[in-house]
Amino acid sequence: MLKSRFFWKLSAGYFVLVLAVSLIIGLTLHTAVERGSYEELRRSLKAQAILVKQALKSSDITAESLGTVFQKYVRDLDPKLGVHITLIRADGVVVADSGHDVATMGNYSDYPEILATHTHEYGFATRQGKISKNRTMYLALAVRDKGHPLGYIRIGLPLELVDLQLTRFQTGMIRSIGVSIILALLLAFVVTRHFVKPLVSMTSVADSISQGNYERKVLATRKDEIGHLAHALNKVSESSRERTHAIGADRKKLAAILSGMTEGVIAISNDERVVHLNDAAGRLLGATPGESVDKPIWQVTRLREVSEILGDVLRDGAELQRNLQIATAASDQFIEMHASPLHDGEGVLVGAVAVLHDLSELHRLDMVRREFVANASHELKTPITAIRGLVETLIDDSTLTASTRERFLGKIKDQSMRLSSIVVDLLALSRLESRGSNKEETSFDLRDVVQAIANNFVPLGEEKGIVVNTELNSQSIEITADKNAIGQAVSNLLDNALKYTPRGGRITARLSVQDGEVVVEVEDTGIGVEPQDRDRIFERFYRVDKARSRELGGTGLGLAIVKHIAFVHGGRVAVDSTPGAGSTFSIFLPLARTSNRSN
Ligand SMILES: Nc1ncnc2c1ncn2[C@@H]1O[C@H](COP(=O)(O)OP(=O)(O)OP(=O)(O)O)[C@@H](O)[C@H]1O
Ligand SMILES: [Mg+2]
Repeated sequence: MLKSRFFWKLSAGYFVLVLAVSLIIGLTLHTAVERGSYEELRRSLKAQAILVKQALKSSDITAESLGTVFQKYVRDLDPKLGVHITLIRADGVVVADSGHDVATMGNYSDYPEILATHTHEYGFATRQGKISKNRTMYLALAVRDKGHPLGYIRIGLPLELVDLQLTRFQTGMIRSIGVSIILALLLAFVVTRHFVKPLVSMTSVADSISQGNYERKVLATRKDEIGHLAHALNKVSESSRERTHAIGADRKKLAAILSGMTEGVIAISNDERVVHLNDAAGRLLGATPGESVDKPIWQVTRLREVSEILGDVLRDGAELQRNLQIATAASDQFIEMHASPLHDGEGVLVGAVAVLHDLSELHRLDMVRREFVANASHELKTPITAIRGLVETLIDDSTLTASTRERFLGKIKDQSMRLSSIVVDLLALSRLESRGSNKEETSFDLRDVVQAIANNFVPLGEEKGIVVNTELNSQSIEITADKNAIGQAVSNLLDNALKYTPRGGRITARLSVQDGEVVVEVEDTGIGVEPQDRDRIFERFYRVDKARSRELGGTGLGLAIVKHIAFVHGGRVAVDSTPGAGSTFSIFLPLARTSNRSN
């Protein structure tokens, strides 16, 4: 508190006030007392002079007898009255004196008190006495006979005693002024402290509030205005805390919403500096959200178009929508950018905001769809063209022999079978894609399904000189799934194995449980798949060797169907292969969908 300027100013003001008042009162009092005392003295001197004059008048004396008669009279009076009486003739010569030998006293006609009697009834003077050396007050009174001055009565009163009294009074007064100043100072300290202390603590709390610290409170116990102020300050602090908290919570909520959005959001101020950039925008623009705030937009993103579009919006104050294509190392990115101006409550342009939609996945899906349509059309067109050519020849050429016709019809049959199998596979795929939750699931032992399908392939294998066998789990593997679909997947794998394994080979259908998954494996000793083809063979219509596959009656949809079946059951597919030595195709199904029951 002693550091408070307010405290010192208030104390100093109070001190100066007390000092000034004490001095004024002291001086006034001193002057009044001094004046009063001298006035009193003058009155008593007058009284004595009148008495002396009366005494003079009552005795029938002449100017000559004055000296001798009165010398004795004044001598007698002096010790009684304590005054110094002098009788002076009209010419200024002393005729009688209460204390001195008149012969030694000079002429008094030009003394100020004597001179004053010419104009006033009484002449007064105060000075150091010539003989007594004390400060003395003199009064002179002219004695006249029928208007003619006979002489003067002069009474001198030593002021020694009065001056002593006045000095005593002065000292007493100075002392009491000193004491009252000390008391006033103490009081000033206490009173000022009483008012300044809460102000100092309130100032410190207000400082804390301005720095965002709302924990400190002021003691608000007083009932006066200072108490009200303290109470109000506490209230302000509390409401500021609540408001700051609410704003913080809102901001966090907004930030969470923005960062959770899949669309990129960038907001810039009207000097083109980034105000906000969410995570998605950071990913799309190759920027770090935390480091981007307050930086110019052109510094944050390497995409010139983004800063240009935002700049245009700021300049024109109108919305803009553009499609951007960003070439990245992996693939092209397609972004739809929608930018709009930002206005404040008064409609003043304060910045711009842009929303970025990543359309790359949609683009990719669109490409896949187009490719699929092109592939499907092509695959369907090939047998149709062949059938058409053969039919036209049969119609137009009447010279064809019966055996040629027979051969042609056989080819037409083959092509229509191929058409039919393509259509059947496409239907199977589209059914798998569109079925969603509408699954026909039943619980069954997977071993039974694998065994039954494998059994179908045994005679086909025998035809090609290939051994088809199974290695199944000793325990039953009960699963809940679409039984026909699972059968179809196993059948497709065995079909491939048989197709791409030369005479004398061996095919094994295996069933096991590994790491919480059921694994269906079909292993062959066939031609194998080159590493670069292993991912692609699961795509629709992809075949490693188109001519050979077509020769074997393949459409390139078999593995795509297997992959889809695994997917709709929450599983996946994999292939392991050594080109020229054989392949192992696996379907993994999650065990959560199965129950492993011991026999
Ligand atoms: N076991 C295998 N060994 C070697 N290559 C295989 C094997 N299985 C599939 N492939 C390769 O993968 C390609 C795609 O197989 P997929 O089953 O999808 O089509 P496909 O067998 O040609 O026709 P289909 O639709 O009639 O099954 C095949 O063309 C073949 O090149
Ligand atoms: Mg196949």
